[in-house]
Amino acid sequence: MSKKRVAVLISGRGSNLQALLDADQSAYEVVLVVSNVPGAAGLERARAAGVEALELDHKPYGKNREAFERDLDALLVQRNIQLVALAGFMRVLTSFFVRAWTGRLVNIHPSLLPKFPGTKTHERALEAGETEHGATVHLVVDEVDAGEIIGQASMPILPGDTPTALAERLLAVEHKLYPRCLAALASRLN
Ligand code: GRF
Repeated sequence: MSKKRVAVLISGRGSNLQALLDADQSAYEVVLVVSNVPGAAGLERARAAGVEALELDHKPYGKNREAFERDLDALLVQRNIQLVALAGFMRVLTSFFVRAWTGRLVNIHPSLLPKFPGTKTHERALEAGETEHGATVHLVVDEVDAGEIIGQASMPILPGDTPTALAERLLAVEHKLYPRCLAALASRLN
């Protein structure tokens, strides 16, 4: 079975990207990283790993999200990308892009979905008095954080935990979960 050609979309530090680069890449191969934020730290991680890293700034597109996504889609198609992994990509994608990549577009979300879709997941888990927290890798569909769950990993919430402490501890969990799930998805795709 051939490795799936993966593009990772980022906006920031790219620690999940790093985990995907460092993991066993026998089922997938990260061949492209695109950031919508110029100068994002994750771009350097990609270059250090010898992976093509591009900036596609969304700002010049103004409110025209679809025009941005058409250019993004064209970049991915040009490079024969088979699977797109969102890793801290801070743009909501429209149905144009989501439909173009249905079943091949995956995200990592810092909560145990269906609990806490959206933002501020660590704060909300604490406020809700949860005893465990976690992360979910899921397919992206039109509805936010609602696609098929590929995998989840959980960890206990400890007395005295703060949103920052939870976020930091969860990141280590995410770094193990995402490569495993991406490999599983890559293996089941044509
Ligand atoms: C992670 O917490 C991830 O769950 C969320 O955005 C954050 C990205 O962090 N989707 P990084 O850029 O991978 O370090």
